[in-house]
Amino acid sequence: MKGLILSGGKGSRLYPITYTNAKQLVPVANKPVLFRVIEAIRDAGITDIGVVIGDTGPQIREAVGDGSRWGVQITYIQQEAPLGLAHAVKISRDFLGDERFVMFLGDNVIEGGISPLIRQFADSDWNCQIVLTEVDEPQHYGVAELDEEGRIVRLEEKPRQPRSNLALVGIYMFDHHVFEAVEAIQPSWRGELEITDAIQWLIDAGYRVYPYIHRGWWIDTGKPIDMLEANNRVLEELTPHIEGVVSPDSEVKGRVIIEKGAEIIDSVIRGPAIIGEETKVVNAYIGPYTSIYHHCHIERCEIEHCIVLEHSRIVDVPHRIEDSLIGRNVEITRSRVKPRAYKMTLGDNSKVGLL
Ligand code: TTP
Repeated sequence: MKGLILSGGKGSRLYPITYTNAKQLVPVANKPVLFRVIEAIRDAGITDIGVVIGDTGPQIREAVGDGSRWGVQITYIQQEAPLGLAHAVKISRDFLGDERFVMFLGDNVIEGGISPLIRQFADSDWNCQIVLTEVDEPQHYGVAELDEEGRIVRLEEKPRQPRSNLALVGIYMFDHHVFEAVEAIQPSWRGELEITDAIQWLIDAGYRVYPYIHRGWWIDTGKPIDMLEANNRVLEELTPHIEGVVSPDSEVKGRVIIEKGAEIIDSVIRGPAIIGEETKVVNAYIGPYTSIYHHCHIERCEIEHCIVLEHSRIVDVPHRIEDSLIGRNVEITRSRVKPRAYKMTLGDNSKVGLL
């Protein structure tokens, strides 16, 4: 089998972070989501992986390279515009050939990897397998309807009256018949070739489409709140270890990772949390569910339930910072210069909640 990771798209729901950064490279527990996807596919025994890229392609190529770091071989497939998930399949035909493949959205995080589902599809004569999970509010998702034999009969995008509580997770498996489908369907009202339309086409054409019901958690990191939620879940699973330096007057409690070259001085770190390489935490409190990426400087402040990206500086902030996604090279400091006022340089679509 081959792997296909979708890593194009706009990431508009994560603006301003994704003005300058590919959405799939935003880290969850200090590792880009895309790297977690590559590892999940590799761990399922697939080493030939195509990565569909868009405008942020150069960044993705630089971060991922040829894949040798993971023992896989990466082929990049350029998509001229985000014209839909089925369009991404269509342009990957030369790479995929006639092999069965798994398609994984490059911004999804799933508990427990994908080995069991890959095994089930590889051993079957099914033409397509989609991953479903039970959700509380199916009206916000793509929803599947199954018949008595457990076969998929219908997919509906955000239905007003859902026929089940089984939502589509961003992982799909296909054989070469999917190319008939992506050639046959037309763009939807939003101008995209929809993968749900392609799968419905397969069902209507009599191909065998079966579900895999995923029981663990799964998060589509489309919005900042989802990013924080994925961060919470992954941090809870990490094995704590300390490679950096912790001064004797500091307190490190719970599931905490201190990466190489990090320094914790006169501070309290309460896990689950991760402090990245070469980051300095001085006289500060880092609370549960926080990931501070590499080369940051955190001093005289309190941060909890946050993701802070690389090279950011947060110093002398009088109130605790919570529930925040803070970008790269950001500076949050207290100004002593008169007049006393908030002074900000914020990118388009930034959000600041003041006390
Ligand atoms: P989406 O989250 O549906 O789209 P997006 O990334 O453009 O985000 P937003 O809605 O916030 O603007 O995409 C899911 C994944 O698939 C994501 O990793 C981007 C990728 N993708 C492509 O590679 N090509 C495409 O044509 C589309 C629509 C998405």
